[in-house]
Amino acid sequence: MRAVCWNGKKDVRVETVPDPKILNPGDAIIKVSSAAICGSDLHLYHGYIPSMKPGDILGHEFMGEVVEVGKAVRKLKPGDRVVVPFCISCGNCYYCEHQLWSLCDNTNPNAWVNAKLNGFSGAGLFGYSHLYGGYAGGQAEYVRVPFADVGPLKVPLHFTDEQVLFLSDIFPTGYMAAENCNLKPGQIVAIWGCGPVGQFAIRSALLLGAEKVIAIDNVPERIELAEQAGAITISSDDDVHEFLKERTGGRGPDACIDAVGMEAHGSTYDLIKQTARLETDRPYVLRQAMRICRKGGMLSVPGVYGGFIDKVPFGAAFAKGLTIRMGQTHVHKYMQPLLERIERKEIDPSFVISHRVPLADAAEAYKMFADKADGCIKVVLKPQDTTPPDKTAKTGARRRLRREQWAVPRSKRLRPVGA
Ligand SMILES: NC(=O)c1ccc[n+]([C@@H]2O[C@H](COP(=O)([O-])OP(=O)(O)OC[C@H]3O[C@@H](n4cnc5c(N)ncnc54)[C@H](O)[C@@H]3O)[C@@H](O)[C@H]2O)c1
Ligand SMILES: [Zn+2]
Ligand SMILES: [Zn+2]
Repeated sequence: MRAVCWNGKKDVRVETVPDPKILNPGDAIIKVSSAAICGSDLHLYHGYIPSMKPGDILGHEFMGEVVEVGKAVRKLKPGDRVVVPFCISCGNCYYCEHQLWSLCDNTNPNAWVNAKLNGFSGAGLFGYSHLYGGYAGGQAEYVRVPFADVGPLKVPLHFTDEQVLFLSDIFPTGYMAAENCNLKPGQIVAIWGCGPVGQFAIRSALLLGAEKVIAIDNVPERIELAEQAGAITISSDDDVHEFLKERTGGRGPDACIDAVGMEAHGSTYDLIKQTARLETDRPYVLRQAMRICRKGGMLSVPGVYGGFIDKVPFGAAFAKGLTIRMGQTHVHKYMQPLLERIERKEIDPSFVISHRVPLADAAEAYKMFADKADGCIKVVLKPQDTTPPDKTAKTGARRRLRREQWAVPRSKRLRPVGA
């Protein structure tokens, strides 16, 4: 089969690899109909997540058709259409029983290595390094899904792939980030990052009753998409601290969401230290959020951090009595309730898609997404699309990338409740 393989920093290639096989009785094999590239994949692409090996198959946002199941699988059968959560969970351990699915104790075969870094290991993840289990990802024609009775959500045929694909990750991630703010009516939320996760956090905060959302980024089309959801926006190049203070009556936002994580722009200090390997992450947004959040406020961190950070004003967080909540999303917990929100037409997650491309063009698509080129906000890869390249197009890189209008016409866009 063809699959997107990591080969080093900024080097992903579509390669021919062996088809996946059933290894355990609880496995299923999925024929992937749609997969997406996540901001978390960029941390791998840029070489910031350790323990990747050349040839590793990427991808943790995917869906498709069940084509084979192991002997012990009861809930799925060939022909079922499923969306698969990015974290792999056993369904039986203490953490799974407490709905803390991404912290599952039983699905990371390399847990002992991870625990050396983190004290204890979380769940195995698809396509996300050997520290997280070394599982092959879903940016491929086929993928093996372990614990198939636990994770995959069957989706009815009346939904399109694009409406439900993001239940695998970014919709639950944005939603959990907003839920972690414990919002009360009348509250103001500031959200750093208008990437896909930020976009879902903005819409989720409004769905959950936030009075006002202030979104921060410096990419024009992403800022515009945030405004279309009803957010007030400011460029991250401006004085964010003063703006937030002014817009909150001098008090600071009730809740702050860091939907940026380890690759924040804006701080030369962090860039130098990260490049010199003197810190693993660039916590620029975390610092800003800790300082501006109101006293007693909530700080929610869906953005990924990988290791050790520097000059974080922990004293400010302590002095103001902030509550900090974070982590990998407990995707399983949110899939069904969010599918119901899609069914009730409260939100159509496909709003975030800017590009749809055949799997064969994944290398160019990664570069475009990483560079935020061509208005790219979210890329959907189509593994079963074998359209031949357009030989008439000029540049190799752009040959087959078929750009879609990123913005859904205003008249067709669903406004989140409360916007
Ligand atoms: N917790 C989870 O389970 C989970 C799941 C999915 C993604 N993530 C993480 O969420 C983060 C965002 O993901 P994404 O897919 O939206 O990525 P993305 O890279 O597309 O978007 C990040 C956005 O942050 C903006 N940004 C950078 N520095 C900024 C600053 N100083 N101020 C304001 N905005 C800034 C960028 O311009 C970009 O638009 C990543 O760290 C990703 O790894 C976490
Ligand atoms: Zn992701
Ligand atoms: Zn478990």
